[in-house]
Amino acid sequence: MKKRYKLGFGLLGFLAGGFAVLLVAISRNADCPTDVPSSTSPDAMTAVVQHCYGGPEVLTITREDRPTVGEKDVLIRVVAAGVNPLDWHFMRGTPYVMRLMSGMGKPSDQTVGVDFAGTVEAVGAGVTRFKPGDRVFGGANGAFGEYVVRPEDRAIAVIPDNISFEQAAGVGIAGVTALQALKDKGQLQSGEKVLINGASGGVGTFAVQIAKAMGAEVTGVCSGRNRELVLGLGADYVIDYKVENFTEQDKQYDLIVDNVGNHSISRVRDVLQPTGRLVIVGGKKGDWIAPLLPTIKTMFIAPFVDQEIQTLLAVLTQEAMDELASMMAAGQVTPVIDQRFELADVRNAIAYSESGRARGKIILEIDPEAL
Ligand SMILES: NC(=O)c1ccc[n+]([C@@H]2O[C@H](COP(=O)([O-])OP(=O)(O)OC[C@H]3O[C@@H](n4cnc5c(N)ncnc54)[C@H](OP(=O)(O)O)[C@@H]3O)[C@@H](O)[C@H]2O)c1
Repeated sequence: MKKRYKLGFGLLGFLAGGFAVLLVAISRNADCPTDVPSSTSPDAMTAVVQHCYGGPEVLTITREDRPTVGEKDVLIRVVAAGVNPLDWHFMRGTPYVMRLMSGMGKPSDQTVGVDFAGTVEAVGAGVTRFKPGDRVFGGANGAFGEYVVRPEDRAIAVIPDNISFEQAAGVGIAGVTALQALKDKGQLQSGEKVLINGASGGVGTFAVQIAKAMGAEVTGVCSGRNRELVLGLGADYVIDYKVENFTEQDKQYDLIVDNVGNHSISRVRDVLQPTGRLVIVGGKKGDWIAPLLPTIKTMFIAPFVDQEIQTLLAVLTQEAMDELASMMAAGQVTPVIDQRFELADVRNAIAYSESGRARGKIILEIDPEAL
């Protein structure tokens, strides 16, 4: 064999070997510690933590140090927390590629949960927007615990008087995702026709209400058991996905928000106006490539078609939180609560979210006496 072929094969083998090592490293789960350390501080708080990746059994309730308050920070006593698919993605560390950020082998941040609602307990000296006693909601790492701390301008808003702690706890990720899908990415205009695939879940129940508030004609795709729920949220039409495939109808939409990803992009494009917009929010479950496929396919398809095809990665912004608070205060959006779980039952709350059957939001009661 010629020298340059030998070199080429050698290099290929080296790359393949390196790739195999990376795949093994990224999918490896470190052992779970048998003894989870707990804080002995008199100020300690109860919180859910995870010291390894895996199923709901990796979630442990323990005593942790209470977060400290910086100059611009707000310390919030959490009353209720919202559960999202994001929580079990972090719990399992899947799709594995996310471990490049969340930690290889085990999570680099042991706290669990993001969406919270509660009462301001203390503020830093430089805080101007909040004071102790304010009812607030938002997003912060460690929401499945008695206290969270957050800079005052990072996705915290006052809970309107007509909204309960439990309702507010369900807003964060799902509400912001729905708003950014419809408004920022979807550019929805009054009078347009929008279809929301997955209208009965956390994101969908917000999306139906926000789209109606924006003056759109709304079609929600859900199963028959959720038909009345979705119509009650203001949808003009409902398609039962167990009876009818929405990609096979004659109607065309200006905007489609896809929270499910159960049809190929080309099939969904069939029911999109020639210059319509598709915003892909959710996709298939999987440890490796399946959840990433919509993003990869979008990169290849979007540049070559007139329709606008985009994937969304929602960001918890202050602007979005304030807008959702205004919509709730005006009675345009009311969070839908499906099931409530006590903190001690956190594993079942996450397992229920993972089942994919939630109707609206799943709520974890952190401080039931304050509800
Ligand atoms: N891109 C982002 O930034 C972002 C942000 C938030 C969430 N997400 C993703 O978006 C997706 C939705 O999130 P979510 O919080 O709404 O989830 P969810 O609350 O768990 O959604 C559950 C709902 O989906 C419905 N559903 C299941 N299969 C369906 C189908 N084939 N057609 C229509 N509806 C179906 C279920 O109704 P039935 O029980 O009746 O089937 C259930 O009501 C998830 O994949 C999540 O990971 C992405």
